[in-house]
Amino acid sequence: MTQSNKTILRALRGEKLATPPVWMMRQAGRYLPEYRATRQTAGSFLDLCYNPDFATEVTLQPIRRYGFDAAILFADILLVPQGLGADLTFVQGEGPRLSTVQNADDFTKLKPADAVHETVSPIYETVRRLSSELPPETTLIGFAGAPWTVATYMIAGRGTPDQAPARRLMYSDRTTFDALMDRITEATTLYLLKQIEAGAEVVKIFDSWAGALPGGEFHRYAIAPVIRIVDAIRAKHPDVPIIGFPRGAGGSYVDYVNEAGISGVALDTSVNPDWAARTLQPKLCVQGNLDPLLMVLGGDALTSQTKRIVEAFSGGPHIFNLGHGITPDADPANVDVMLKAIRG
Ligand code: CP3
Repeated sequence: MTQSNKTILRALRGEKLATPPVWMMRQAGRYLPEYRATRQTAGSFLDLCYNPDFATEVTLQPIRRYGFDAAILFADILLVPQGLGADLTFVQGEGPRLSTVQNADDFTKLKPADAVHETVSPIYETVRRLSSELPPETTLIGFAGAPWTVATYMIAGRGTPDQAPARRLMYSDRTTFDALMDRITEATTLYLLKQIEAGAEVVKIFDSWAGALPGGEFHRYAIAPVIRIVDAIRAKHPDVPIIGFPRGAGGSYVDYVNEAGISGVALDTSVNPDWAARTLQPKLCVQGNLDPLLMVLGGDALTSQTKRIVEAFSGGPHIFNLGHGITPDADPANVDVMLKAIRG
């Protein structure tokens, strides 16, 4: 199979396929016993990310088990802040902890954007290995966090329910906030370009906290930075599709799709698939939407909701996926139930 015949790439070029290709956010993760075993051997989560042997292995695990149409590079969106000089640790059971950027002084301590390569270079090696080890029909997806979402972690130093620390800095010190957004945007562009040079065939930009931006700032901080990244990638690699995930964007999904210049849009669980089929899918490939809770529940609800989404998007280009990452309490057998509902 030639590269251009891969199902995910065909869908992202706008082709409607009889059966949608499928992959899952967080498909390499704690719900899989083989992931937990490799994770144990690797030590910490960051040791796993920065070891190309282990990171390649966990990326391949869900491909071997389920035959997904795409593999997503195993890494994390918080490696970019680390490359910019933030101290980063993952506290077991609690999530990430970072040193914070809350004023002009903190900002001046950050490294320049191109310093990011020094830290993340093992990730490029993982991408190179994956591009030679994946089955020929499987598409390799690279990724990064969107600048706003990455900024929320750099400012708060951890995950927060409402991104209040980032919003506070945005309102009270625009100069520092904008400088931070610019620095992240530059570093993210360099990081994604290198992933593509190493063999990533698609890149996805995760704006997991787009829904926390005040609506009036959505264009400035969710769309404009993505336009900069997309333009820089297109200038060098015009054929590499880019998927955007403005999670929680609500009605702003329309502006995002119209303006960001992306080839595919990932839909969170709150989006009505019929609305998205009418409003977004005529313009580009849609992906996502299945409630990850169904991967815990299984049964008829999983089957009927899966078919509901396949049916809603049957009129245009579609990649089946969840509306957010699969959770650690999901039953691996439910993935087979979902695949059967999609593929028959
Ligand atoms: O399979 C894949 O999807 C690829 C790998 C991947 C991970 N993180 C691995 C991971 C990807 C694409 C991400 C993206 C990511 N990381 C996002 C955006 C997507 C989203 O979920 O909204 C965000 C916000 C992060 C930041 C992050 N990483 C948090 C908040 C946490 C802690 C919460 C948690 O789920 O534990 C992580 C850790 C993380 N990243 C894990 C994995 C598999 C779990 C770590 C472990 O094994 O202990």
